[in-house]
Amino acid sequence: MRTGKRLVDVVLGSGLLATVVAVTVLVAGAQAPGVHPISGRRFAPIMGWQGAEWLERHEREEEENPDMALNVLKIAKGATVADIGAGSGYITMKLSARVGPEGKVYANDIQPQMLQMLANRLASRKIPNVVLVQGTIDDPRLPEAAVDLAMMVDVYHELSQPQTMLRHLRASLKPGGRLVLLEYRKEDPAIPIKLEHKMTVAEAKMEVEAEGFTLAKVNEVLPRQHILIFTVKP
Ligand SMILES: C[S@@+](CC[C@H](N)C(=O)[O-])C[C@H]1O[C@@H](n2cnc3c(N)ncnc32)[C@H](O)[C@@H]1O
Repeated sequence: MRTGKRLVDVVLGSGLLATVVAVTVLVAGAQAPGVHPISGRRFAPIMGWQGAEWLERHEREEEENPDMALNVLKIAKGATVADIGAGSGYITMKLSARVGPEGKVYANDIQPQMLQMLANRLASRKIPNVVLVQGTIDDPRLPEAAVDLAMMVDVYHELSQPQTMLRHLRASLKPGGRLVLLEYRKEDPAIPIKLEHKMTVAEAKMEVEAEGFTLAKVNEVLPRQHILIFTVKP
């Protein structure tokens, strides 16, 4: 017993084990499946960068029709938009073309590997209007009052700290700015996506409105996802 305690003291004293434990706890804490305190919805695990190929699959155009979603949003040339949880940049590339050379896209993610894939893509196509931002699990690290439209495509359900993220996103919006979520319809059991990766309109409304937004519009034109358009509560 005494020897065991001394061994632990020695190892901890070296600082190495303490660092390993702290890092493990941090990583586990970031990934642990939690539950939203208001809706009771279980958070989905974060999609790892190793799955980026799935984001770029050819069938995605037909399954999700993201261009139709962007048409619905009528994004103006010259606008500043934020692609939160941009992943490998499938949506970022479309947003970049929509806002044009006078506009700007903040492409945010927490996984540096995702942002690196996007950086390579931007460099090879010489695209200058995208700014990469590595955020943390509860802070997208965007400038305040700078964004016309913040989008989360297939991302919100993965947030492990949605309340704090939403407060930061609200602060990043310009007056009259919009927050848009695209989420697979949980109301439809025929949509072939795991339950934790889907959301109902009621869940999204309950959670997002609690952080100072109003659900201004729900558009159901897409084959599988809700388009949920929020504005900031006056
Ligand atoms: C399913 S992928 C969607 C990627 C992209 N929006 C798309 O549609 O191609 C979800 C992404 O959200 C990111 N993500 C999860 N939690 C995040 C957070 N708190 N802040 C920023 N990004 C986050 C993940 O790293 C992952 O790249």
